[in-house]
Amino acid sequence: AESLKALGKRKGLNVGNAIGAASFRDPAYLALMGRECNVIVAENECKWPALEPRQGQANYEPADRMFAWAREQGMLIRGHNLLWQTARWQPAWINQYDFGARPALAAERLIREHIAAVCKHFGSQVHSWDVVNEAVDPADGALRRNVLTERLGAVEEIDLAFRLAREHAPQAQLVYNDYMRPDDGSARHRAGVLKLLQALKARGTPVQALGLQSHIGSWDEMGPGSKGLLEWRKFLDEVSGMGLDLLVTEFDVNDRKLPADIAARDAGVAALAKDYLDVTFSSPNCRDFVMWGMADHMNWLQGWKEAPRLDGLPMRPAPFDSRLNGKPLRT
Ligand code: XIL
Repeated sequence: AESLKALGKRKGLNVGNAIGAASFRDPAYLALMGRECNVIVAENECKWPALEPRQGQANYEPADRMFAWAREQGMLIRGHNLLWQTARWQPAWINQYDFGARPALAAERLIREHIAAVCKHFGSQVHSWDVVNEAVDPADGALRRNVLTERLGAVEEIDLAFRLAREHAPQAQLVYNDYMRPDDGSARHRAGVLKLLQALKARGTPVQALGLQSHIGSWDEMGPGSKGLLEWRKFLDEVSGMGLDLLVTEFDVNDRKLPADIAARDAGVAALAKDYLDVTFSSPNCRDFVMWGMADHMNWLQGWKEAPRLDGLPMRPAPFDSRLNGKPLRT
């Protein structure tokens, strides 16, 4: 079969995958990626808690190793992420940090040092950075609060992060990344993301693209012509209208609510994906299609204890199965 990256090229899309430590223990999986992809992103290794587990203690080696491999393959590299607004994914030491008598200054210095160090370390090999991840609370569309936003203000902090990224990674595409979805339950999330992007644009913040995580699933209402997909198209049009590119950054399909039978399940997963991607790729501003684990056994949903399948069976969220054979989703 034609490789995904060749297919993508015809549609003007980069095709990529998230890689982690486990990918390097599986040469066949690495080879599959080499064949199918022209972009990679580190699944966890560029996150702040991974790069600086304790304050002042730098740990770049795992990401460096991945990126060296990607460069050998001639692949592009996405960086994920400079700031993650959900408190539980920030470094533990940040959450216990003593901000002292001038908390806003202390918070600004932390962000400044972090973004400058990370952007400089990886330099021009990262062609696209998720500068800020998940800043909008899906429950009400408001900006999430954490120890840093408490000191700086949320829009101000996000704006600062983008300006620092522009300064220290001048050649990189700067992305805001989030998991808003087509379904009705995500309407507030989409509205909140639009509001944030508008606020950033109004301030002249150098944001260039919206990352659509695209962890889609059987809860999304996505039949062709469904309300969910009409709303999704409207959302994508509004974002494109702001002059922003769109990137699918973390694609997979949660099959929790699909039947146990494998053929039926794989067909259901493929149908959901087709409905979603047909609309998403029809946007002329869509540039990337990046998967978050392209074989079932390598996909994070397998270990995601918060929402397992009710029947306890392994998930089948990816285009390739655990023997690296293409599934209906692949075609
Ligand atoms: C996930 C990883 O895949 C897991 O290995 C880790 O335990 C938690 O984070 N949205 C994101 C990604 O932006 O960084 C998340 O990755 C998945 C959801």
